[in-house]
Amino acid sequence: MRRHLIAGNWKMNLNGEQAVDLATAVASLAKTEHADVVICPPAVYLDQVLEAVRAVRLIGKDFSIGAQNVSDQPNGALTGEISVAMLEDLGVSYVILGHSERRQYLHETDAVVNAKLRAVLGSSLIPIVCVGETLTEREQGETLAVVRRQVAGAFSGIPAELAQKAELAYEPVWAIGTGKTATPEQAQEVHGDLRKLMGEQYNDQLAATVRILYGGSVKADNAADLMSKPDIDGALVGGASLQAETFLKIIAAARP
Ligand code: PGA
Repeated sequence: MRRHLIAGNWKMNLNGEQAVDLATAVASLAKTEHADVVICPPAVYLDQVLEAVRAVRLIGKDFSIGAQNVSDQPNGALTGEISVAMLEDLGVSYVILGHSERRQYLHETDAVVNAKLRAVLGSSLIPIVCVGETLTEREQGETLAVVRRQVAGAFSGIPAELAQKAELAYEPVWAIGTGKTATPEQAQEVHGDLRKLMGEQYNDQLAATVRILYGGSVKADNAADLMSKPDIDGALVGGASLQAETFLKIIAAARP
């Protein structure tokens, strides 16, 4: 049975004090007997957030801190970039890769996501690889083709022993930050396809164990329905992770 993972993606929000307050509230109140939790603050607050969380609970598999992005290069003349080793050094456990906002606004291609995934899989960090179609692509019946291309691109040349460490997130672009959520049935259909794709690209065991999160306007009132579906193994939460109370409700809605 796959344990659920609830990830909070704070994106480019909050100031340092708010980040510490939110992290402290979530870390002290989150119940993690039934699910794993990761919070992903802006990179400049990772250190403060780690310290705040360590003050109230042990950081471990069930509660950890993630980054929203990382460089594919180990070091060098790359102004503004942050390396995998720097994140490891801080005590970060997860990193989100291939988020649609980075694909859309920062021109991250499947090849870039692949390079970052290779860098991350050679480290102690756990990647959350995001895929998802735009509204036009869905309306043109291309959803499966799009996620197939994104999965094949992201995992190209990566062997099963490394790929098995990755988490996936299905985030339909039309549902992110729009208040429009995929119905549990729509999401389950794509999650089922994604699991099949991982089986084709790798093997049945990897397909059975990979966690596939759903993201896109997950809220306290739709989280339980989404996560009741057999192939939905948790949630990647944007807007609703910025409020402790709402995020805690989503954590509580994870399937035991
Ligand atoms: P949202 O964002 O929950 O605000 O729609 C989800 C995401 O982008 O990860």
